[in-house]
Amino acid sequence: MKSLISLFLLSFVLHLSSSAGPENWKDIDAVCGGDRQSPVNIVTKATQLDKRLTPFNLTGYKTVFDTTVKKNNYTIEVAINTTATVSGGNLEDTYKPLQFHLHWGTNGVRGSEHTIDGEQYPMELHVVHIKQKYSTLTEAFKDPFGLAAFGFFLEESNSDNKNFDNLITVLGSIQNKTGDVSIKNVSASQFLLPEETMTSYYRYNGSLTVPNCGESVIWTVFEKPIPLSKKQRRDTNGWDIPTRTASCRTYSLPVERSGGPGQRGASLRLHHYNIQSVPSMLKQPSPD
Ligand SMILES: *[C@@H]1O[C@H](CO)[C@@H](O)[C@H](O)[C@H]1NC(C)=O
Ligand SMILES: *[C@@H]1O[C@H](CO)[C@@H](O)[C@H](O)[C@H]1NC(C)=O
Ligand SMILES: *[C@@H]1O[C@H](CO)[C@@H](O)[C@H](O)[C@H]1NC(C)=O
Ligand SMILES: *[C@@H]1O[C@H](CO)[C@@H](O)[C@H](O)[C@H]1NC(C)=O
Ligand SMILES: *[C@@H]1O[C@H](CO)[C@@H](O)[C@H](O)[C@H]1NC(C)=O
Ligand SMILES: *[C@@H]1O[C@H](CO)[C@@H](O)[C@H](O)[C@H]1NC(C)=O
Ligand SMILES: [Zn+2]
Repeated sequence: MKSLISLFLLSFVLHLSSSAGPENWKDIDAVCGGDRQSPVNIVTKATQLDKRLTPFNLTGYKTVFDTTVKKNNYTIEVAINTTATVSGGNLEDTYKPLQFHLHWGTNGVRGSEHTIDGEQYPMELHVVHIKQKYSTLTEAFKDPFGLAAFGFFLEESNSDNKNFDNLITVLGSIQNKTGDVSIKNVSASQFLLPEETMTSYYRYNGSLTVPNCGESVIWTVFEKPIPLSKKQRRDTNGWDIPTRTASCRTYSLPVERSGGPGQRGASLRLHHYNIQSVPSMLKQPSPD
């Protein structure tokens, strides 16, 4: 049995390395082969408690705006069409959000980019911020801490998450559309965790997860997942847009954790046996 599994793993890994997947991104951009690369597998036992990881000071995230949903080859992206800021949480400056986008798996495979103790969540939402003083991403990439990214896991729930209703409607129709689709009357905060649960998070210094893989990103990965029902996922026509999920190039880097309320780790609901997380586990030192 064991040799059968390793044979299967071997062919899976070989398959990955022979395709133009994430393993080959270093040929597109040398930075992708660097040593501060994201995503990471967060080994909870190896995280360091850091008391400097205080709650965030968010302004403007609740402001309602109209915007567009952009479909590109790898994800859907929602521009945050309002002025908002985040500071605190041991970020070294004040940052402003530009957009959020989603990562998911195709054909029912789990699709989060970060993993917790080797396990993947079904989806992951990323909010991309740059320092408030910069006006372009290009400028921000020249600063080793020019960007701050928030990662939120999405997990399957029994009841619908009404906050996602209008986005789901748009996603359900976006598949065969060319160009951007408008979405009205949304706020950034409706797609995130409630602010009081944004106090439990993991922190590390990483990169963009897709080329150019720029190593200028302070990552905050929140512990508590955002619920989304199976029906909502179905209503998006299976989110059937080819996605580029970087989880098969998951690295190991030092990770700090905030001292948020409750027993860290105890509330994590881990999912068992997942093919996509296996290649990344092969690269990880054992958590024990
Ligand atoms: C939160 O950030 C805003 C905008 O940068 C600032 O005006 C405000 O003083 C901050 N509040 C706290 C409690 O630090
Ligand atoms: C952003 O909001 C402004 C003002 O409501 C609107 O005119 C503009 O079209 C919006 N931008 C996008 C990208 O939707
Ligand atoms: C998106 O995919 C199409 C078709 O595969 C390709 O021609 C195009 O260059 C891609 N765009 C980007 C920005 O990668
Ligand atoms: C998109 O186009 C495909 C192929 O033409 C079709 O099968 C599918 O039902 C369409 N999806 C939507 C949401 O219209
Ligand atoms: C916009 O959304 C808010 C809740 O986020 C709601 O109270 C309000 O009625 C909505 N306005 C419109 C015009 O849909
Ligand atoms: C990230 O870099 C900053 C500045 O060098 C450092 O203070 C911090 O401890 C680093 N964080 C981790 C998790 O390595
Ligand atoms: Zn992302």
